[in-house]
Amino acid sequence: MGFFSPLCKISRRGKYFVLLLLLLSVLAWIATFSGETVKSGRFFSATPQTLIKEDTLRVKVNTWTEATNLLKTPPPKVECPQESPLLQGALKLSFEASLKLKDVVSDNKGVTEGEYTPPDCTARQSVAILIPHRSRERHLLYLLHHLHPFLQRQQLHYAIYVIQQAGDATFNRAKLLNVGYLEALKDYSWECFIFHDVDLVPENDHNLYVCDKQPKHLVVGRNATGYKLRYKGYFGGVTAMTREQFLQVNGFSNTYWGWGGEDDDLRIRVELQKMKILRPPADVARYTMVFHKRDSGNEINKDRMRLLGRTQQVWRKDGLNSCSYKTMSVERLPLYVNVTVDIGKP
Ligand code: BGC
Repeated sequence: MGFFSPLCKISRRGKYFVLLLLLLSVLAWIATFSGETVKSGRFFSATPQTLIKEDTLRVKVNTWTEATNLLKTPPPKVECPQESPLLQGALKLSFEASLKLKDVVSDNKGVTEGEYTPPDCTARQSVAILIPHRSRERHLLYLLHHLHPFLQRQQLHYAIYVIQQAGDATFNRAKLLNVGYLEALKDYSWECFIFHDVDLVPENDHNLYVCDKQPKHLVVGRNATGYKLRYKGYFGGVTAMTREQFLQVNGFSNTYWGWGGEDDDLRIRVELQKMKILRPPADVARYTMVFHKRDSGNEINKDRMRLLGRTQQVWRKDGLNSCSYKTMSVERLPLYVNVTVDIGKP
């Protein structure tokens, strides 16, 4: 009988005993592989049967809680793609005299108090758009009409701030932009700031309103100047700087009252920090300027050349760190945050 011969010699009771032992070892082996009894630190303080029952119950309860939680919480958002699939390229702009604020509000249902977050993905940047303003309601309406859908197509988390200069002292664009930066940061830690003239409407949504490793100038050309850069160092109209870049140059100077010079001053500050100005391709960085006469209260600043001559000496003391103002009101309107501010006079 060879191999089986020793078994044949054992009594019938002995055979049953061997079989029972075999059966028990198989059961023990299965239990080890299920992993549940071994994982529990209480293995020796309870019978294996009660442990298996308890653990199975816990697993069931956990699975149920997880399943109901999954139903309650929306799926985690993925980062928005590098290039938004919603971009359309060159746009047909419209400046209808019949356009009403309520039309722009109802066209932008995703915007709450001037702020928008893409619904389906996490935006790559959080951007505050700052628009200095006084008595240019029609221009503001046209800009909001185009800018909101434009920014939504770029899948940005953004908010628009309009900074209104109270009173009728000479206009100071640069100081209003400093105020906008300081006020917007009270709401949220925006990583990118767009300093935007009210009368410039972007023509192509590939002109991305995001910040880069270096400051960006977004207006290469505009209709009024044959879509050519006005001059080599031109840094006006619409610019983009990160929170840190703007802080590093101490923001704009507060001393430019009236039209001109403040954007050249900012360029000097940027160059003093050895930063390099980037520009998008000319066929993309195109704007339509809404026609207007020179505003009263914003006369040409005849002192601007003298001021530009002293930027290098004063930039550390004149800027964000010396910007004094009195906030009159902060209204959270449907399409923008309206900051009205007393910035004093020249
Ligand atoms: C002014 C700038 C202005 C530019 C373009 C310059 O002479 O100093 O402030 O943006 O002209 O009009």
